[in-house]
Amino acid sequence: MNASNILLLIIVVQLVSVNLAFEKTQNVLSKSKIIHLNGSIGPESVAFDPNGEGPYIGVADGRILKLQLGSNNRLFWAEFAVTSSHRRDCTSPFAPKMEHICGRPLGLRFDTKTGELYIADAYLGLQVVGPKGGLATPLVQKFEGKPLVFTNDVDIDDDVIYFTDTSTKYQRWQFLTSFSSGDTTGRLMKYDKSTKKVTVLLGDLAFANGVALSKNKSFVLVTETTNFRILRYWLKGPLVGTHDVFVELPGFPDNIRINPKGDFWVALQAIRSVPSVSDSKFGMFSFNPQQMGDDGELHPTALKLSEDGQVLEVLEDVEGKTLRSISEIEEKDGKLWIGSVVMPFLRVYEM
Ligand SMILES: *[C@@H]1O[C@H](CO)[C@@H](O)[C@H](O)[C@H]1NC(C)=O
Ligand SMILES: *[C@@H]1O[C@H](CO)[C@@H](O)[C@H](O)[C@H]1NC(C)=O
Repeated sequence: MNASNILLLIIVVQLVSVNLAFEKTQNVLSKSKIIHLNGSIGPESVAFDPNGEGPYIGVADGRILKLQLGSNNRLFWAEFAVTSSHRRDCTSPFAPKMEHICGRPLGLRFDTKTGELYIADAYLGLQVVGPKGGLATPLVQKFEGKPLVFTNDVDIDDDVIYFTDTSTKYQRWQFLTSFSSGDTTGRLMKYDKSTKKVTVLLGDLAFANGVALSKNKSFVLVTETTNFRILRYWLKGPLVGTHDVFVELPGFPDNIRINPKGDFWVALQAIRSVPSVSDSKFGMFSFNPQQMGDDGELHPTALKLSEDGQVLEVLEDVEGKTLRSISEIEEKDGKLWIGSVVMPFLRVYEM
């Protein structure tokens, strides 16, 4: 995670309250099983369809792949969908300068009722593809006449699709510049399928990233990666239309996924060497990049939060050697499926 360490050094973070209950920490993620992608990389998001098939992943060459059982009884990655019809030159597994042509699917979510897959493509906007896959259809690529610059994640409540645009200035391949410039042009938006209307729910966000609705859809969460926190926007009840801070975190949160109980799994690149992070009191610390030594590596952490933002579980890969990077955790049938926007594999952890 050299790139991330560099950006850590350039970010200026003043005060972050530490909210991890470290007695619940388990250094277990290094024991997770590996599923190689056979030449592809960067499965940021992991999704299963309403029949429980999959997982489906979006990879760096722009394709969405599905793990399938072949006739020879062996698993293979089948091509399921694409977000661009101009894929003739999209042959390299990783080519950031081609992403605006080939597409770069990040957040994936199935509509459990229709079986359609919603895709937040970093360059090609919010898209949807039917249960049989193929070429996806763009739903939102502009807002008030200006193109979306960095669509990142998505969640669905029947006719209303919630999604993030990470920045109005920087594309995905420029994420380091976005980090170092202190960009706060991110937005949480919604798309209403019946009216086709797009609305900004929250603007001025610092690297707006993961999106997750609560179990009864009374609120939607959005991660602000470079503000080290998760915001909660109320969709129902007395606070409707307002937002508050759901939780502050000692690191960079990425995607959030709900589990069957209604708890949230947050993928976190936790910062190790910050003074008092190991202090289980929820103290405040000031982050000084100078103090980052060898143990200042970002390390992948899966954080389980209750519906009211309490830390329930912390699973880590302290050395960060096997996992290195974490983008999303999808819980299914007692297993955690762990995606990463840079690695050439998925990880599966049996709980
Ligand atoms: C990976 O590729 C090998 C060799 O082509 C194949 O046997 C294996 O089934 C593939 N695995 C997956 C998960 O695609
Ligand atoms: C949603 O669930 C929460 C927590 O269980 C509850 O407090 C709230 O009243 C529910 N809201 C609605 C609109 O059902």
